[in-house]
Amino acid sequence: MNFSKEVDQRIKENELNTHLVEAAKKFIIESTVPKYSYNFSALGRPIIQYPQDIIAMQELIYRVKPDLIIETGVAHGGSLIMSASMLALLDICDSIQDGSVFDPSVSQRKVLGIDIDIRAHNRDAIEAHPMASRIQMIQGSSIAPEIVEEVYAIAENYDRILICLDSNHTHDHVLAELMAYAPLTSIGSYCVVFDTIVEDIPSNLIPERPWGPGNSPKTAVWEFLRSHPEFEIDKSVQNKLLITVAPDGYLKRIA
Ligand SMILES: C[S@@+](CC[C@H](N)C(=O)[O-])C[C@H]1O[C@@H](n2cnc3c(N)ncnc32)[C@H](O)[C@@H]1O
Repeated sequence: MNFSKEVDQRIKENELNTHLVEAAKKFIIESTVPKYSYNFSALGRPIIQYPQDIIAMQELIYRVKPDLIIETGVAHGGSLIMSASMLALLDICDSIQDGSVFDPSVSQRKVLGIDIDIRAHNRDAIEAHPMASRIQMIQGSSIAPEIVEEVYAIAENYDRILICLDSNHTHDHVLAELMAYAPLTSIGSYCVVFDTIVEDIPSNLIPERPWGPGNSPKTAVWEFLRSHPEFEIDKSVQNKLLITVAPDGYLKRIA
């Protein structure tokens, strides 16, 4: 068997490995209160993610090779910087493959970040970052019609789009984001819905939040998928990661 087939086989076996699945679930639950996901950074900017999901995004971005990544939820900018750095690497790979000279100023690839509240110190740090030329930010609610319209106007200029939803995690908000932005996902690309794990975490560990089990990104995904057969959950991602904040959240556009 070749290497990638062996990997696929191991990933399939993970799902049936109840000890491993339980250990991962215990880690996720135990790591929620000490705010484990707040301890990481991407090229110097804080990124509120688990390392496993950061690696999954790296794999997806390299596989899909998007020219536009649309992200809701900017916070400190770490996920924007991480995505922009991956787009820069795609540009470098293209130059090496075509034998052209890499010119960082000519990239068409871009990350578009939308957040209801881009704090001045975060905006300043993102705009001062070496990856800034690949990043555009829009301030406003991701589900406000004028913001959605602005995003669509920008997206018109791109061919291969990947979406990440990581803003307000209530069912209604995420469902509205899915309805608004998932249609922009290119066939073969992904609409990644973060923090679906909220559904699986005891509600007493999620204090003072409007979301929780029964009202979460995962319930929004399930409702969205009932009327959108053009998307399917790529279970291979969560079965590989085991520790992920996005179980059932890696949605692949298949048609
Ligand atoms: C979990 S953080 C995003 C983390 C970021 N993606 C990262 O990986 O570092 C959630 C962000 O969503 C933003 N947010 C909350 N409600 C929003 C809304 N209605 N529209 C857009 N952004 C929203 C918050 O201001 C916050 O910055």
